[in-house]
Amino acid sequence: MSNMKIVSGMRPTGKLHLGHYLGVLQNWVQLQEDNESLFFVADWHALSTSYEDKLNLKRLTLDLVKDWLAAGIDPAKSTLFVQSAVKEHAELYLLLNMITPMGWLERNPTYKDQMANLKGKDINTGGFLTYPVLQAADIIMYDATAVPIGEDQKPHLELAREIVRRYHHLFGCETFVEPKDILTQTPRLPGLDGRKMSKSYDNAIYLSDDSDTVWQKLRKAKTDPGRVKKDDPGNPEICLVFDYHKCVSSEADVAEIESSCKAGTIGCVACKKKCLQGVDAMLDPMRRRRERFSDEEIEAIIEAGNAGAKSRAAEKMERVRSNIFEIKED
Ligand code: TRP
Ligand code: SF4
Repeated sequence: MSNMKIVSGMRPTGKLHLGHYLGVLQNWVQLQEDNESLFFVADWHALSTSYEDKLNLKRLTLDLVKDWLAAGIDPAKSTLFVQSAVKEHAELYLLLNMITPMGWLERNPTYKDQMANLKGKDINTGGFLTYPVLQAADIIMYDATAVPIGEDQKPHLELAREIVRRYHHLFGCETFVEPKDILTQTPRLPGLDGRKMSKSYDNAIYLSDDSDTVWQKLRKAKTDPGRVKKDDPGNPEICLVFDYHKCVSSEADVAEIESSCKAGTIGCVACKKKCLQGVDAMLDPMRRRRERFSDEEIEAIIEAGNAGAKSRAAEKMERVRSNIFEIKED
């Protein structure tokens, strides 16, 4: 697929890990090749769940964009911007809130899920309930045709489409585009303890980890517990390191590891060393690119992106204001 208009965002909540790369960023990097792409830092969205946390949003924003640039997001191909720098998002969010029924928001499965699960955080706020309305504004502002998202965000895209239809119906116009989702096929890459890879479980390999740090993490990863001696036959299917190989090693290497593990001809330490090579092969280009960007350069990239996004958003809001506020002949 090409010639789509891509919009996607991430909340700035901390450094990105290998799961983010394989699940999201790798996809963005490909999409930017033959589609008009806008990627933004959803800093207002970060406040919806973390308004009590005194987030260092400026630092988090620069670090997030640095991870993107390291991963291969190219500012010459994509527009990179920060949500809070384009105030038109707030205006559109306000207007969309006026027409969004409470029932749609309360029924949203992601909302119900998070209300039940985010224990220890008071997210009983207007901002959290209307999170998907802001997300709809982010997307439809730029006539996005396709939005790369994870499975959990599907209800938000559905809501965005419903809001577009309701807006068109109420104001008798065709101002927006109904966005489709591009579901990211996440290769299953669990954290180093077998749970979901996540900062909060302290089980992740970060894009900014150096080779030695990655090795210290891999070294401790659990393998097939049935293997006591290094020539015991193993079962790669129940080994975490094998999951990693499937994500970072070539098909030929994966096949070879599978058979030599089963035959007991490769030891787990050697197998982990090979896995490190795969991870390094993936991270080395990112490490090199990361070196090239100073904070000042990242700020300049964001400034330019903000200006580009802002001019498009301003144009869209002209139309929206005229839809709603111009004198109508009766
Ligand atoms: N809600 C998204 C997430 O948590 C982030 C986001 C905000 C987003 N606005 C967006 C994603 C617009 C895609 C399009 O992952
Ligand atoms: Fe896992 Fe590799 Fe050891 Fe087999 S040899 S159990 S795949 S670490």
